[in-house]
Amino acid sequence: MLKVGFVGWRGMVGSVLMQRMVEDGDFNGIEPVFFTTSQVGQAGPDVGVDVPPLKDAFDIEALKALDVIITCQGGDYTKKVYEDLRGAGWKGYWIDAASTLRMSDDATIVLDPVNRKVIDAQLDAGARTFVGGNCTVSLMLMGLGGLFEADMIEWMTSMTYQAASGSGAKHMRELLNQMGGLRDSVASELKDPASAILDIDRKVTEAMRTGAIPTDNFGAPLAGSLLPWIDSKLDNGQSREEWKGYVETNKILGRQDSPVPIDGLCVRIGAMRSHSQAFTIKLKQDVPLDEIEERIASHNEWVKVIPNDKDATIDGLTPTAATGTLSIPVGRLRKLNMGGEYLSAFSVGDQLLWGAAEPLKRMLKVLRE
Ligand code: HSE
Repeated sequence: MLKVGFVGWRGMVGSVLMQRMVEDGDFNGIEPVFFTTSQVGQAGPDVGVDVPPLKDAFDIEALKALDVIITCQGGDYTKKVYEDLRGAGWKGYWIDAASTLRMSDDATIVLDPVNRKVIDAQLDAGARTFVGGNCTVSLMLMGLGGLFEADMIEWMTSMTYQAASGSGAKHMRELLNQMGGLRDSVASELKDPASAILDIDRKVTEAMRTGAIPTDNFGAPLAGSLLPWIDSKLDNGQSREEWKGYVETNKILGRQDSPVPIDGLCVRIGAMRSHSQAFTIKLKQDVPLDEIEERIASHNEWVKVIPNDKDATIDGLTPTAATGTLSIPVGRLRKLNMGGEYLSAFSVGDQLLWGAAEPLKRMLKVLRE
């Protein structure tokens, strides 16, 4: 039986991973060991099978006893432990949610419905380090995988609408507190149907500009606004989040030698946990729309083509519809005015499921096959 260690299982991504693994009975047939950075010796979580007391997540000897380690503890933990563990001769499988190791040569980015062949080839070549992709990248590939598989894309842009959860749990709380703060700033005016909307707007804007709502985590109001920058700045003017779109996509697809050009702007919006993206896709050829829809729809069992009409879109192509599900709706599919080779598309997906926990959960299953 595989001995599988879990680190960072109590955080947001870790909790979603635990929940999904319990739902699918994934703890049956493995020997789970739970680690902690602060509560060594306490009882482990209830996952339906017996688990030993919590072990120290920094104890290299304890980690060395494992066949597989799955960590959602974050990049700092990976930086502290990974090299030491490998240096101590550990040859087990490291499955990581953090971005730290993603682009290193010996790491494979996992998204098996899209790159199972790449994963298998890496396993055959002796790879032991597997990392989940950036959430927007994984969600984009789950939605448009059929077009990449058919090698139909000459280049594409992705303009993102990213949810608060991508920044972390505290940010989700702050977003809600900002929303509440804005509402509270005009509570009496809202009760009065005769109050002037421009007065309400002025007060809300004032609340945003004067620090009347909490901004410790986002550094600015997100509720009632948006933030067109995610992560740090690179020398070429891209944000790191935008850079990932190109490098990670091509690494996941194993096409670093003939990369598909991808670029765009990444924007934080006031959604809770589903990321949305608008795509402009330059096709290699003017392929009929019904063939495009068919290729997208048949790529995997989670993608769902939403008809390009208003009711279906409002009903099925929103964070409200996608959140908490594994479904990846893709819609607004139409040819753009620029010509038959130019396609628009819009996708939504739960950032914590396919964007984070699900690819890791599935990688463990791949190892168990
Ligand atoms: N970097 C992403 C975001 C989340 O900020 O939304 C994780 O991939």
